[in-house]
Amino acid sequence: MNPTDTMSTPLLASGGRLLIGAEWREAVSGKRFRTLNPATAEPIAEIAEGDAADIDLAVQAAKQALGGPWGKMSAADRGKILWRLGDLLMKHVEQVGRLETLDSGKPVAESTKIDVPLAADVFYYYAGAATKLEGSTIPVSGPFFNYTLREPLGVVGLIVPWNFPLLIASRKVAPALAAGNCVVLKPAEETPLTALRLGELALEAGLPPGVLNVVPGFGPTAGAALVAHPGVAGVAFTGETTTGQLIMQNGAKTLKKVSLELGGKSPNIVFDDADLEAAGRGAMHAIFYNKGEVCTAGSRLFVAKDVHQALLEKVVERSQKLVQGDPLDPKTRLGAQVSQAQIEKIGRYVEIGKKEGARLVLGGEQAKIGDGRGYFWKPTIFDGVRNSMTIAREEIFGPVLSVIEFDDFDSAIAQANDSAYGLAAAVWTRDIKKAHRAARALHAGTVWINTFNLYDAASPYGGYKASGFGRESGMAGLDFYTQTKSVWVDLS
Ligand code: NAI
Ligand code: MG
Repeated sequence: MNPTDTMSTPLLASGGRLLIGAEWREAVSGKRFRTLNPATAEPIAEIAEGDAADIDLAVQAAKQALGGPWGKMSAADRGKILWRLGDLLMKHVEQVGRLETLDSGKPVAESTKIDVPLAADVFYYYAGAATKLEGSTIPVSGPFFNYTLREPLGVVGLIVPWNFPLLIASRKVAPALAAGNCVVLKPAEETPLTALRLGELALEAGLPPGVLNVVPGFGPTAGAALVAHPGVAGVAFTGETTTGQLIMQNGAKTLKKVSLELGGKSPNIVFDDADLEAAGRGAMHAIFYNKGEVCTAGSRLFVAKDVHQALLEKVVERSQKLVQGDPLDPKTRLGAQVSQAQIEKIGRYVEIGKKEGARLVLGGEQAKIGDGRGYFWKPTIFDGVRNSMTIAREEIFGPVLSVIEFDDFDSAIAQANDSAYGLAAAVWTRDIKKAHRAARALHAGTVWINTFNLYDAASPYGGYKASGFGRESGMAGLDFYTQTKSVWVDLS
């Protein structure tokens, strides 16, 4: 596609403006920034650049909406709006998926078959959950009746990253609205398009103005202003661990409730009794899905000594066949990394891997696709990695796999747990006892047995250790967005 085509034909009917209250408006500063297509490095749209002044307007609009019809609306009616929003996402699945692909570089097959449908599922799930937010009646001592109400926090700030822009936003927006909160959503500066599209569709679904405000902008300006705003009761964040630490710190002054979904270095453990075909396929998918830009990516592949060589051959062979190319081509399985910064980061880690003595067996360099200006990186595999090496300890967030050999069950688990992170883990074995013993022993918020990268709107998701705290999806995903009120009645 000619990039100037997309610049002159707006990708969004709302014209890349901020959604504040009922209005699509330019930033107070008048500034705009460009979002790029990572596959071509060409700008595709100009977006209003929100900062502290716009965040303040958005928080005011959200507060006002809390006091309006939204605050009085029944849970059932809130649920109906969420269901309609799910329907609208599916009605426009091709268009929304294409927007996501243009902005993030992920294969369109993933955007349209996985990201958008999963986002719609999240809205369907929380549409039903709105009426299941029950309190309890409590048998207190004395002639009293005591019960609890689960109430919204008020205005919440949602800060999301660029790897699953719509899906991660939806996992926060849907439970926040189901519980009756009003929202200020700040998408990542790399990928603002689908958050704005979600804002358009929310209004179409009948969400009252001001309930969902969308303010694209940069982290240190718009993001930091949301975290510092005294009118915001809680901040739910997904992104880098160090940003999460900053958000906790900066949120302390106004006593923000925070939910943090942070980085990972997930172990994927293949025992010698595993189905090696399935494990090889799983290991390849675990690291190269969404070009490795996945917080749960199976970036540390632990393989039992006896099957090490056989499994490595299968993973390499499958990885060589991965179709890398134009993300808009439905046959593409490996797209473009999101930015030049990510390409540089991956390159640095590949050099460190070589220097520390890991053996590069596949890739290790940029891929030339099209005119060669896009941010493509070849599927990369290091063998002979030790768990103490930098490439096994730090989150690379790209298509780079570290293969680590182990001797026995205990050493596999000990090494898997020897990580700052604890987001997800997987084990491959035909032994049911071993599988469940491993599931208990692994320090991670999600454990997959003979599979990888499964998600569902109904199943809780989140981290142990430096991968953060708070859970998203499922009924657990509502905890962050509610507070409990205890009500006493004198019956004497
Ligand atoms: P980041 O954590 O800086 O950005 C994520 C979001 O936080 C964006 O919306 C950004 O604008 C916002 N943000 C940044 N600084 C902020 C601040 N001071 N206050 C409030 N909000 C702020 O991640 P970045 O810089 O885009 O990527 C760097 C690395 O982080 C990646 O290479 C990857 O390793 C990791 N990362 C992990 C993700 C995950 O899901 N675990 C997602 C994105 C990045
Ligand atoms: Mg950053």
